[in-house]
Amino acid sequence: MALYAYLEILLIPISVMFLYFLMIRTQKKSFAPTNWPVLGMLPGILHNANRIHEYATEILEESNGTFEFKGPWFCNMDMLLTSDPANIHHVFSKNFPNYPKGPEFRKIFEILGDGIFNADFELWEFHRKTTLSLMIQTKFYSFFERNTWEKIEGGLIPVLDGFLEKGVELDLQDVFQRFTFDNICKLVLGYDPESLSVDLPYIPCEKAFNGAVEALMHRHIVPEWIWKLQKWLQIGKEKTLMKAWKSFDEFIYPRVSINDGVDKEEDDFNMLKSFERKYEEIKNYTSRGDSREFLRDTSLNLMLAGRDTTSTCLAWLFWLLAANPSAEMKIRQEIEDELHEKEDKKWRNFSVDESKKLKYLHGALCESLRLFPPVALEHKAPIRPDILPTGNHIPENKMVVLCFYSMGRMEMIWGKDCLDFKPERWILERGGIKHEPSYKFPAFNAGPRTCLGKEMAFIQMKMVAATVIYHYNIEVVKGHKVSASDSVIIQMKHGLRVKLSKRNVC
Ligand code: HEM
Repeated sequence: MALYAYLEILLIPISVMFLYFLMIRTQKKSFAPTNWPVLGMLPGILHNANRIHEYATEILEESNGTFEFKGPWFCNMDMLLTSDPANIHHVFSKNFPNYPKGPEFRKIFEILGDGIFNADFELWEFHRKTTLSLMIQTKFYSFFERNTWEKIEGGLIPVLDGFLEKGVELDLQDVFQRFTFDNICKLVLGYDPESLSVDLPYIPCEKAFNGAVEALMHRHIVPEWIWKLQKWLQIGKEKTLMKAWKSFDEFIYPRVSINDGVDKEEDDFNMLKSFERKYEEIKNYTSRGDSREFLRDTSLNLMLAGRDTTSTCLAWLFWLLAANPSAEMKIRQEIEDELHEKEDKKWRNFSVDESKKLKYLHGALCESLRLFPPVALEHKAPIRPDILPTGNHIPENKMVVLCFYSMGRMEMIWGKDCLDFKPERWILERGGIKHEPSYKFPAFNAGPRTCLGKEMAFIQMKMVAATVIYHYNIEVVKGHKVSASDSVIIQMKHGLRVKLSKRNVC
């Protein structure tokens, strides 16, 4: 008798749970994840973890651009997802002082240490001021222009020609990553590791970025205790992250030197040197009391900023052009018209100023950035409770995730043709470039923390894209599957496999 009574007691809650699950399953037609007891919406997220950016877009499209995510109980994972331009404007600009990156951001991105991406308040101001003071020097752009063309002539073209001669496929994304890695290393560390050479050498630090950015996304998806446990056990993506950490340290530390801060040679012109010169000031900012660590963090942040973003944008651009051959033809036409390649019948390098004439190419790059913003998301947490323009109440320290990837794909922002690749979208009737406000097009972030390398990135991407488009026909290998990686930087999951043929040009 007693046994029956126990069974009944057990069966009642089980039946209630079963009916609850059944009811939700039959009712469910929306994309929004089910909010389960105890687990919250986590199962829905984990189920879609291999298409996380698309999934967030479906949810946000359905919920008018703002969605309250409920995490598992006691895991501090509740967050607000938004792709609403008014909220972006509010968080990044209007109420900027209330939205630092915060401790949560720093915890996830601990690998970046005291670098600019992790920094808030005085530390951030110090980084921004020091980096900017170097970038506004006129010799910075001539140094940058010279480096970029040297890499194109000495690395990019020989490597592409090598593949062409052998008649074999190549991964164009990998080629671009090597290009930007070499380029940014030269700019930041004053050293070119020559990863873009005909034999495509394996340089652990260069490849480590790919694993690191995926692992950092994983930390956004699972509860903190899970990734901390994985880190402790040295398994899964945390193991990859720790390996990447080691590769970064082994690559950067030998190039960091603490000296009296006096430059001796013109060749010492690089970003690290301008920080080394501030040796005394650095001591006030480093949280770990070690200036070498601070310089390592500074370099790593700038290397990440320069390597992954530009290479990712270039890879998506070539994939989009392969599907839109008429746009590619227009870019070729523009190169011939604006750079007078037709008259000279000979390719020549163009200057930073001349790159500004390539407006259609500019529009094509903006489309690539709109549809595949390399930095897919950003998150912030307010110091004081706040109310967003959409009316959502945000308690202190609650995470607000700003979904840049979703923003480029929302009808409410870009209209019915939001998914089409249309460089014309960026060209004014009178031929100038159309500038969209950064809260609508936040690929380079918005407000006081807008990307410092935006100008530089456009110049570099134009030089690389124009060279490749002018000299080669590019065909994506049939059957090659292209999809966005589940990473904080939206690279192509399986690279971009292409075949080249030479165009008949000098
Ligand atoms: C297509 C190329 C690029 C894109 C899409 C891009 C995008 C972004 C985004 C979204 C941020 C904000 C990140 C955050 O706060 O977490 C950012 C910040 C930054 N970017 Fe870029 N970036 C690009 C290229 C570059 C390059 C080539 C550099 C040169 C080193 C650079 C330097 C920086 C720096 C220093 C910051 C930090 C700004 C701050 O926090 O005040 N970026 N970028």
